[in-house]
Amino acid sequence: MESKLSDKELVAIAMEMRNRAFAPYSGFAVGAAILCEDGTVYRGCNVENASFGATICAEQTAAVSAVAGGNVDFITIAVASTGDDYCVPCGICRQFLREFSADIRFLCANSKGEYVEYGFDELLPNAFEL
Ligand code: THU
Repeated sequence: MESKLSDKELVAIAMEMRNRAFAPYSGFAVGAAILCEDGTVYRGCNVENASFGATICAEQTAAVSAVAGGNVDFITIAVASTGDDYCVPCGICRQFLREFSADIRFLCANSKGEYVEYGFDELLPNAFEL
């Protein structure tokens, strides 16, 4: 457990996590950090595969790490890449994370650490649910 981090601190962790990316095919490193209700932070990075479709995104590895750690109370996820643009989650990651809460805040950072905030109201309106 960590004491609750600020948005800036969470973005900084996502930026650090880009260094763990395994991205030999795209060269596009992505890092992610999920802040949970109890203050715990789970980290992720993209993990690519020679069979490209087997690649998993940074947001997904962070979420899987959280679930494996027994925590599904996601509050905020920060995502950072090495690109110039703000790194917004792909469609699969939006659906993947929406499973856990409709209220997750997304902090989407660029390579300088500047970020914009989004919610599912903008990123995945009318989401599929069972
Ligand atoms: N990627 C992520 O990690 N998160 C996203 O939301 C978009 C894409 C990764 C997957 C792949 O390793 C690389 O970025 C290029 O698509």
